[in-house]
Amino acid sequence: MHILVTGGAGYIGSHAVVQLQQAGHTVTVLDNLCNSAEEALLRVARITGTAPGFVLGDVRDRQLLDELFADNRFDAVMHFAALKAVGESVRQPLRYFENNVGGTISLCQAMERAGVFRMVFSSSATVYGDPESVPIPETAPMGEPTNPYGRSKRMVEQVLTELPRADERWSVALLRYFNPVGAHESGLIGEDPQDIPNNLVPYIAQVAIGRLEQLSVFGSDYPTGDGTGVRDYIHVDDLVDGHLRALEVIRERPGVQVWNLGTGRGYSVLEMIRAFEQVSGREIPYRLSPRRAGDIAACWADPEKAGRELGWQARHGLERMMADTWRWQSRNPEGYRKG
Ligand code: NAD
Ligand code: UD1
Repeated sequence: MHILVTGGAGYIGSHAVVQLQQAGHTVTVLDNLCNSAEEALLRVARITGTAPGFVLGDVRDRQLLDELFADNRFDAVMHFAALKAVGESVRQPLRYFENNVGGTISLCQAMERAGVFRMVFSSSATVYGDPESVPIPETAPMGEPTNPYGRSKRMVEQVLTELPRADERWSVALLRYFNPVGAHESGLIGEDPQDIPNNLVPYIAQVAIGRLEQLSVFGSDYPTGDGTGVRDYIHVDDLVDGHLRALEVIRERPGVQVWNLGTGRGYSVLEMIRAFEQVSGREIPYRLSPRRAGDIAACWADPEKAGRELGWQARHGLERMMADTWRWQSRNPEGYRKG
């Protein structure tokens, strides 16, 4: 198939391009590089031996989209392009809604005009809000996400859910990610935050490499085993494998399908620190700090539906997630900027 990958220069998108190419698909990336570097795509080409098509542009640019769809016969779209910094979304909600919700709407309109009706969308476990219980199945009620970023994901899910009701040619996969971590085993591509990382694993990795001094552990009084927050960390390559399988399933099945992509088990912040120390041989200095606003105590997936319907399950354990993160970080201490 010929797949349009929006946000394909980003962290998860670049790993998706690798797997799509390795599975024999043709890939065109559309990315405005607002949170990524073209270098990521050069690295992808080193891994796969083939440079993906690349269009520098914005998913909100209707004219560009029409030209892109006129020039190519896409079979499906994997839509990763979005802004994802939670704190920033609180300060700039309109920018987040415009980019994430508005961008998806203009993309779907261009798809409709071009007669392309298959989309795999990057959603998030954040749509469950603070869950009533764990593990979380897809049937759990949508909660109240604690920030505009999370609400933008919930809004896009609502928009995409309407499409097949109006036109039965649409087939949409809403993939709810738990906590993607890790990197490609080559150490060539990985997560490259532009500022100080918000997320736990990139923060730990930058402490380990010496770019940051100390980790703040946000909250040690949660009702969890050791008092720190528990999350379902999933290797980015397992996550991407779920996308390829979802793509195959929605090819034959119109409508909207929702799948959790998580491992089904949670680890605490302190367990994550220990696992990273073991793999890297570096000490991670940390300090117990107050809870972060908007955080929940524990969140992990019930991945049974994805197992049953996609024939998918996460294969890589915590040690592999940490080893791949460390390989990427230690070989690229400054991310894509040097090295
Ligand atoms: P990322 O920032 O690395 O990748 C997003 C890419 O989209 C970037 O390359 C950016 O330049 C591009 N982009 C943003 N807005 C664009 C626009 N208007 N037009 C064109 N390109 C644009 O983020 P990621 O971690 O790879 O996330 C990919 C997707 O997965 C996002 O939709 C994100 O919300 C979702 N998601 C990520 C996580 C996570 O923890 N990383 C968790 C749940 C969901
Ligand atoms: C965060 C976002 C969520 C988003 C997800 C994936 C918030 C409130 N939520 O979720 O919307 O979908 O990232 O991008 O930001 N932690 C520390 N110290 C740190 C960083 C994190 O102790 O410096 C802890 C957190 O309190 C949490 C765990 O580590 O318990 C994981 O944090 P993080 O990686 O930010 O992911 P989420 O909080 O699950």
